Amino acid sequence: MVMEKLVAESFLTDPKVLEAKNLILRSLLAHQSRLTDIRPPIPALKKSYDDLVEEFGRLRGGPLFHPYFGSGIGKGPLVELADGSVKYDFISGIGVHYLGHSHPAVVEAALDAALRNTVMQGNLQQNEESLELARMLVHAANAHGARIVHCFFATSGAMANENALKLTFQKKSPADRLLAFEGGFAGRSLALSQVTDKPDYREGLPLTLAVDYVPFFDPLSAEESVNRALTSIEGHLKRYPGRHAAMIFELIQGEGGFYPGDARFFAALMKLLRDNGVAVIVDEIQTFGRTTELFAFQHYGLDEWVDVVTVGKLSQVCATLFREVYGPRAGLISQTFTASTAAIFAALAIIRMLTSGDYFGPEGRIARLHERFVSRLREISSRHPQLLTGPYGIGAMIAFTPFQGEAEKSKKFIHMLFDAGVIAFYCGSKETRVRFLIPVGAVTFHDIDRVAEIVEATLLEAAEAF
Ligand SMILES: Cc1ncc(COP(=O)(O)O)c(C=O)c1O
Repeated sequence: MVMEKLVAESFLTDPKVLEAKNLILRSLLAHQSRLTDIRPPIPALKKSYDDLVEEFGRLRGGPLFHPYFGSGIGKGPLVELADGSVKYDFISGIGVHYLGHSHPAVVEAALDAALRNTVMQGNLQQNEESLELARMLVHAANAHGARIVHCFFATSGAMANENALKLTFQKKSPADRLLAFEGGFAGRSLALSQVTDKPDYREGLPLTLAVDYVPFFDPLSAEESVNRALTSIEGHLKRYPGRHAAMIFELIQGEGGFYPGDARFFAALMKLLRDNGVAVIVDEIQTFGRTTELFAFQHYGLDEWVDVVTVGKLSQVCATLFREVYGPRAGLISQTFTASTAAIFAALAIIRMLTSGDYFGPEGRIARLHERFVSRLREISSRHPQLLTGPYGIGAMIAFTPFQGEAEKSKKFIHMLFDAGVIAFYCGSKETRVRFLIPVGAVTFHDIDRVAEIVEATLLEAAEAF
């Protein structure tokens, strides 16, 4: 009997479709080759661009931090804005555009998605690519011995964390408390605004969740730091016996200021939690793909302790990965949308590239880029110690403190840097730092040197202006 081909298969392999895709990708390469360095805005576009930015700020109910409207094309770390300027994007949408702008593999993924029947996938609508991505994430999470079995998608990091909380609360019902780190960030839903240790981000909101905070790792007193955190957890567990469902670990504090943790510190805390039946949730929304391993929990060797882990940002599709025992009862987690088809195809392309390329390990691409960028920043600091302290961070999460971390000056400096052609962002719950989430898959040493040059020139300019 002759096997009938699926209609989809004959469409997707139709030579006309393949040729059309090829033509688009060839045209992209030809046009983006004109983006070779930063450039200022086109004067004739300035007024209408400023109007767009102002109108958007008004519509969304608050101004944008950066006057950023992309034109829709870029080349690696360079992005063209709608005012005609070209800038180095060293924050990548806060960690999203890991392969830079208009990467051919990501554009091809979006074209593949556009050929499919639906824009969004979710509760009653998923195609095989959803399954492929779930398999890929679970497999990658278990690379060094973790015991993750399930993967549930979500459209935001906050939703992935919400689902993590629900799984762990249901498992330990009627527990009603959480543990979290001081200075940590977990997202901006009503519940997560209380896990996030920043009073400004929950101003005026009702307190709906009880969270007990634990001091984070302090590299200046590593040993005491472990004891301090253990004593703190023990105190909370004693005060509310049996009431804690989980502790959320942000292994490298991101929004908090790019403070890395420590393997021994985390392992000691996680063991205490396991002994007391408290789940370990690792929030990797920002750290995923940015250390010497795909997951930061793998970088710190915490595989045996991880119960639930969440990913987002560079994965395009956010996800909650969890061990068998945290399997939800029917109805607990479900969403109409879990991801767009384009995000799923892009996620597959990006993670495939990450896991098959030379990204990780002590000599990998991430480590090499880190070394280059921090050595350039160190050189600037040695020339102008009063202007730049640091650098701080780990892997592809790099920050420095300008102007002693004064919030207003640091933010002004970031705006000046934007005008000079480099997009960065701020972070820090103690001092205000300038942070970079570099587009790892696109950046070269030349780009890093060029950005460092602009950083130094802008620091000097800012020092004059302030
Ligand atoms: C550690 C961490 N958790 C959660 C989130 C929330 O993710 P999203 O903004 O996609 O909701 C973020 C976002 O910056 C984050 O850095």
